Amino acid sequence: MKVLIINGSPRAGGNTSIALDEMVKVFEAEGVETEVVQVGNKDIRGCIACLDRLFYSTGFDKTMKVGASVVCARRGGLSAAFDELNKYFTICGMPVASSQYWNSIHGREKGQAREDFEGLQTMRTLARNMTFLMKSIALGKEKYGLPEKEEWLPTHFIR
Ligand SMILES: Cc1cc2nc3c(=O)[nH]c(=O)nc-3n(C[C@H](O)[C@H](O)[C@H](O)COP(=O)(O)O)c2cc1C
Repeated sequence: MKVLIINGSPRAGGNTSIALDEMVKVFEAEGVETEVVQVGNKDIRGCIACLDRLFYSTGFDKTMKVGASVVCARRGGLSAAFDELNKYFTICGMPVASSQYWNSIHGREKGQAREDFEGLQTMRTLARNMTFLMKSIALGKEKYGLPEKEEWLPTHFIR
């Protein structure tokens, strides 16, 4: 069982990292492997046509892989970012893990997120809930298999 953690911050070791490290500690204690990839400091171009690059960057089937997004900001805008990020999971058949609050943490200068005790607790709870979901789905897959998939019926307009 492995969790891929994608850090979108351009600042390595910043406040987003503090939030994600808090989750990694819980995953490790639960025996779940993790891999963190920092993408925010990479030279990645934005969208050049009408397709969203994050959604189309991976073609493999993500059905029943558990997803969760984590947002970090000094003050505001993060709940809007959170809503947007969650849409990637819900368009891919991925169950979304939740916590005791929206998965957010606050801080501006590097390290300040360590003072957001509620934010850190939210991350620990999220990692525990996510682990529970992943383990439950693994058991469910063994017992029932994945849900049947219908052939996609693309429509270009609604009548
Ligand atoms: C380009 C840029 C834009 C930012 N915009 C916001 C913002 O809209 N709202 C906010 O509360 N903080 C904003 N911040 C502050 C960041 O949320 C804060 O520095 C946070 O710690 C960044 O996470 P990081 O340390 O993982 O990079 C911004 C910072 C940068 C560099």
